[in-house]
Amino acid sequence: MQDLEESLNEESTQSLTDWEVNPDSYLTDIYGEFILKVNGEPKKRAGKKKGSPHNYHSKVKASMDAKRTLREKKKRVAQSRAALHKVESSLKKTTETYKVLEGKLGSKIVTEDALNELPEAVRTALAEDESEIAFKPNPGPQQDFLASSEKEVLFGGAAGGGKSYAMLVDPLRYCHMKNARALLIRRTMPELRELIDKSYELYPKAFPGAKFKTQDKIWTFPSGAKLEFGYCEKNADVYRYQGQAYSWIGFDELTQWPTDFCWNYLGSRLRSVDPNIPTFLRATANPGNIGGYWVKKRFIDPVPPNTTNTVRVETPNGIKYITRKFIPALLSDNPSLAKTDYSTMLAGLPPVLRKQLLEGNWDVVEGAAFPEFDESIHVIPPFEIPAHWERIKGVDYGYAAESACEWAAVDPEDGTLIIYRELYMKGLTGDKLGAIMREMEIPDVRSISGVLDGAAWSQAGGGYKGPTVGEVLVNMGHRLVRADKNRKAGKIQMHERLSKSPEGRPRLQIFSNCVNLIRELQGIPLSKTDPEDVDTHASDHAYDAVRYLVMSRPRMEGYRDRLARFKSEEYEPADTIFGY
Ligand SMILES: Nc1ncnc2c1ncn2[C@@H]1O[C@H](COP(=O)(O)OP(=O)(O)O)[C@@H](O)[C@H]1O
Ligand SMILES: [Mg+2]
Repeated sequence: MQDLEESLNEESTQSLTDWEVNPDSYLTDIYGEFILKVNGEPKKRAGKKKGSPHNYHSKVKASMDAKRTLREKKKRVAQSRAALHKVESSLKKTTETYKVLEGKLGSKIVTEDALNELPEAVRTALAEDESEIAFKPNPGPQQDFLASSEKEVLFGGAAGGGKSYAMLVDPLRYCHMKNARALLIRRTMPELRELIDKSYELYPKAFPGAKFKTQDKIWTFPSGAKLEFGYCEKNADVYRYQGQAYSWIGFDELTQWPTDFCWNYLGSRLRSVDPNIPTFLRATANPGNIGGYWVKKRFIDPVPPNTTNTVRVETPNGIKYITRKFIPALLSDNPSLAKTDYSTMLAGLPPVLRKQLLEGNWDVVEGAAFPEFDESIHVIPPFEIPAHWERIKGVDYGYAAESACEWAAVDPEDGTLIIYRELYMKGLTGDKLGAIMREMEIPDVRSISGVLDGAAWSQAGGGYKGPTVGEVLVNMGHRLVRADKNRKAGKIQMHERLSKSPEGRPRLQIFSNCVNLIRELQGIPLSKTDPEDVDTHASDHAYDAVRYLVMSRPRMEGYRDRLARFKSEEYEPADTIFGY
C-alpha cells in the first residue's frame, strides 16, 4: 500500500506542469482560480517575476554603489568612535582605581565593576595580596543590600548572615565626600561595642587616615565626612540627635525597638546638605524580638522580598512617596560563617529560635507570651451571633494610649467565648468612649454588661473631684463593674481559654475583624523580668480588655449544664453571665 502511494507521488511529481510548480506566475481570478486562455491553458502574468533583479541604467547603478560605500564607511566611523569612547572611559576608571589603590584619594573603596576593568595581571596580583582587601561584599543579598537605591531598606533574617557587617560598610559609600553624615545606632550603648570594634578593623583600611574619637564615638574621614555611633534606649533618647542633619541613618537590630517611634522620628531627621549625597535609612534585624511585629508589618508583609514598595507617607511638609525594600539574609549567604560550628549551634536551638535565627523565618515570634495562639484555629470568619447568646464586654481605658473594648458572646453549646467585635482608639474621653460603645452596640439588641479596668474607677489626682471614667460610662447606661486586675492569673486564664477542649475546639475564638486583638496575641512577648507575665512595653490594650473579660469567668448555662442541674441540684450559678 505504502509502495503504491510512493510510486503515485513520484509519478505525479514527474508529470508536473509549469503552472503547478510556479502558480504565482499565472493570473488568477478573485476566487483564486487560474484564468484560462482560449486553448484551455492558464494565462501567464505579464512583467517580471517577483524578486527578479531590476535592469538599471549603468549611471544609476554607479551612483547607488557610491552611496552604499559611503553608508558603510560612516557606519565604520561610528563603530570606531563607540569603541574609542569605551576605551577612554575604561582608561578613566582604571586611572581612578589605580589612584585609589595607591592611596592617593584617601578612599580605598573600589567597586567590583572597576576592578573588572583592571588588566588581568593586576587583578591576579590584587587577589593574591589579601592584605590589600579591607572587605568585599558576599555575593547575593549582602551585595544587593550595599547596592540598593531605595530610601528605606531592611536587611533581615538569619543570624550570622553578614547583616551588621554590611551595615558598617554601607555608609562608606559617600564617605569620600566631605558633607556625608552618618548615624549608626543600636538600642543600648553596651551593644554598640561590637560594632565599634569591627569598625576599627574596617575603616582605617578603607580610608587611611580615618580617626575615631572615643568620647563622642565619631569617626572622621579624611574628606571631612563623619560617622557617629549612637543608641536610643528610651524614646526620649532620640532628642539627642534632633539638632543634626544626617544623610544616612542605620538601625542595627531594628526588632529590639518595641515600637516604630525612634525609626519614624530619626527618619524625619534625615536630610542632606549636599545635593550630590542622597539620603538613606537602613536597618538590619533578626525576626522575633520585642519589635518583630511592627517590623514585619512595615517591611515584610506588604510586598515580596527584594521588591521595591512605593509608599505614600504624610510628613509635616506634605505627602511624600518613598521606596522601601526588604532583603532576606540567610546564614548560608555568608561564606565566612556558613561552614563553621555556628550553624550547628543555631540548629541546636529550641524550635522557635531556630526558625528565626537559622531559617530567618518571620512568621514565628520568639518568647511569645502565647505561642499556642494559632490563626488557623483561633481566628474564625465572622458570622451572625444568634440573638439568644449571652454577650459581655471587657474595657481597657486609655487616653494617650488606646482605649480597647472587646465584645464577646458565649456559645451555649460548649461555652466557647467568641470575641466578635472590637473598638481600639486613642484620645477618647470617657463620654466619647461611652457614646462610641453605645453606637457599636446597636445591633446587639440587649444592653451588654462588662468589666472595666481598675484605673478607670479612680480619680486622676491633681485635686480633680469630677466623675471617673468608670462613673461616666455607668451614668451613660453601660453596665460595667471593676475588672479583676490580677495580671498573672489573667494570663493563666488566657492560656486555658486558648487551649482546646476535649472535643477539639479552643475555648476562645476571635472573629477575623478583631485585628488588633489578633495582632497583640500574635506579637505580645513574655516579660523579660517576669516570665509569668507579658511584656507590658508591648502594645497590650486589646489583650488587657480580653484578660479582664476572661477573668470575669464568662459562661452561660448551656443545655448540658441545665441537664446536669436537673439531675442534681448541687450547682447553681448565681449569675448566669459571670458564673459567680
Ligand atoms: N563580606 C564579608 N567579608 C568578610 N567577612 C564577613 C563579610 N560579611 C560578614 N562577615 C563576617 O561574618 C560574621 C557574621 O557577620 P555579622 O554581620 O555579624 O552577621 P549578622 O549581623 O547577620 O548576625 C562577622 O564576623 C563578619 O566579620
Ligand atoms: Mg548583627
